[in-house]
Amino acid sequence: MPEPKPADALTEAEAVEELTRLADEIAAHDIRYHQEDSPAISDADYDAMKRRNGEIEARFPHLMRENSPSLRVGAARAEQFSAVEHGVPMLSLDNAFSDEDALEFDARVRRFLRLEEVAYTAEPKIDGLSASLRYENGVLVQGATRGDGRIGEDVTENLRTIKEIPRRLSGAGWPDVIEVRGEVYLGHQEFAALNAAAEAAGQKTYANPRNAAAGSLRQVDPSITRGRPLRFFAYAWGHYSQPFADTQWKALGLLKEWGFQTTPESQCVSGPEGLMAAYRAMETMRPELGYDIDGVVYKVDRLDWQQRLGFVTRTPRWATARKFPAQQARTELEAIDIQVGRTGALTPVARLKPVTVGGVVVTNATLHNADEIARLDVRVGDTVILQRAGDVIPQILSVVPEERPKNAVSYEYPHECPCPLKTPVVRETTAGGAETVVRRCSGEFACPFQKLAHLRHFVSRRAFDIEGLGEKHLVAFTERGWIASPADIFRLADKRAELLDTERYGETSVRNLLENIEARRRIALDRFIYGLGIRHIGETTATVMARGYGSVDTFLEAMDKVADRDPEAVEDLDAMDQIGAAVIEAAAAFFAEDHNRAMVLDLKGQLDVQEAEKPKTDTAVAGKTVVFTGALEKMTRDEAKAQAERLGAKVSGSVSKKTDLVVAGPGAGSKLKTATELGIQVLSEDDWLALVDAI
Ligand code: IVH
Repeated sequence: MPEPKPADALTEAEAVEELTRLADEIAAHDIRYHQEDSPAISDADYDAMKRRNGEIEARFPHLMRENSPSLRVGAARAEQFSAVEHGVPMLSLDNAFSDEDALEFDARVRRFLRLEEVAYTAEPKIDGLSASLRYENGVLVQGATRGDGRIGEDVTENLRTIKEIPRRLSGAGWPDVIEVRGEVYLGHQEFAALNAAAEAAGQKTYANPRNAAAGSLRQVDPSITRGRPLRFFAYAWGHYSQPFADTQWKALGLLKEWGFQTTPESQCVSGPEGLMAAYRAMETMRPELGYDIDGVVYKVDRLDWQQRLGFVTRTPRWATARKFPAQQARTELEAIDIQVGRTGALTPVARLKPVTVGGVVVTNATLHNADEIARLDVRVGDTVILQRAGDVIPQILSVVPEERPKNAVSYEYPHECPCPLKTPVVRETTAGGAETVVRRCSGEFACPFQKLAHLRHFVSRRAFDIEGLGEKHLVAFTERGWIASPADIFRLADKRAELLDTERYGETSVRNLLENIEARRRIALDRFIYGLGIRHIGETTATVMARGYGSVDTFLEAMDKVADRDPEAVEDLDAMDQIGAAVIEAAAAFFAEDHNRAMVLDLKGQLDVQEAEKPKTDTAVAGKTVVFTGALEKMTRDEAKAQAERLGAKVSGSVSKKTDLVVAGPGAGSKLKTATELGIQVLSEDDWLALVDAI
């Protein structure tokens, strides 16, 4: 992959562009991690993105965005849980990645306090998810996830099912009101058993114990959480009504007396040797613990000193997390397979002799792209060093040259898609015409690999949402030749007899499946567009296009013209909100292919595509840019956004000179401040509702 420019070599324009991209990407990963419990990248890659964002912001402080990832911890809560405002925000920790970083932390603390030596607690950094438990008069009254740090999700009932969380505090000396904080986690054995059971039942398995813990805690039905053997370590607190300790160490002792589990490996240390020794000790203990830890947390022991040190934006100055490096192992590369993604991107995958890395058996690793294979000069038969960071997708770091077999040959990247059609592979170019590292199969729907992935996308929840047509059915139906394109799904009813004939489907499941399909013949235009699986046309873009074109016929007519590079049609598309060159190129390339056009027309023939509501141009808010901030009490954010957009307004996430209106609810902070400074009109939620009601 090309090395990114160092932050100090970026021009201001490049910095703006990159900060925007990083904010979007990090936000998307936050949602996958915190709300969907299904991360797409490793922690190390995520940390690298955040670091890069921080470096650029340090160089151009005035470019820091209001939605900057550095001002945020975690992600907003999911809709299904009600909101809990934490008495004291739940913040994040700064990271130290090396001995030097850790020593620098100690030096900073000592400089700040003007002290020669400072005592710290060194605690294992449990790799789970944090929770805050509110006790009133010793009784657990509410429990919440961290959420965005300020507002979390109310998961009281689920937390009550965890045996290690006392419903009533024991011992004495607890404040009348206290928010006890700590980590909900799952042990290795319990994780393995949970995944084995899920697999046996044909359900989704979790990538690692942390995701499993998060997924288990955030169940709508507490009886499901009860069946998951979650555990809890207490290590901190938020709001409290009376002081109860003067050091972190004593506080940990009290938490134990009150009935919590605290980490037995924690210790009190001071000086560089103490900090280093605690880290090494934790590294040694790590494999024996039976649960995941990803580092050591150092906290200034004296609470009055913590108070003096205070916070920098979202992290305390009095604590840091010394992270363990990613875990590594050696193994043999048995083969390199090429996988074809939904959009035809080819990804080389290393097939490895199974090896255990940090408690997990790894058999595959990503090789990213052809350039990465060339950079590593990795060959089949090589012994490779493997790294598993953050435990999502293992990576190959390097080859061990001494162990290369004599007959190992350089890997030649295929020029053809590995599908039976052997369609030519093309190197992707950007909208500006520059070559990228991505190679793609040019077959789209005609390529059987892409076909299955396209179909999977087509039936997915946010596209056509066809329940009962899962992966297994799609594979079976495409193999039998019953489905070759989306339109065929709507012709499955003709295959009722054959369906019933195959031993796997009973009368009821066939009936349900066909009913579900029938119900989707009537489809909203945005879902129709999104379902086509065109590169760069995600849900938001599909919605914008649906609103812009209004009807399926106008959409298709415009797409034909865009494919022919009709200047007016291209300009119309370009003028739509948030649509740029990448979308235009992708749409043009897609509709320039005859097989894609034929597929879309065939599909349209099976459907009743609903007209999209065109944005209004004659309302009081039409064309205005509106920002919602703070809590809304009478509607959800999504509702408010949809309503504003229906009335022709544009909804933005940040306040700038271009903002026309700010709707501020309770708890509104910096956005409201900026709006006032810029002299922008501010409305309450009620004012807004009165305004839109009048329209
Ligand atoms: S103290 C103000 N102690 O690490 C900081 N956090 O990156 C309060 N964590 O959200 C956190 N073990 O989920 C603290 N012994 C420990 C921890 C710990 C794990 C997690 C926690 C927190 C995250 C910070």
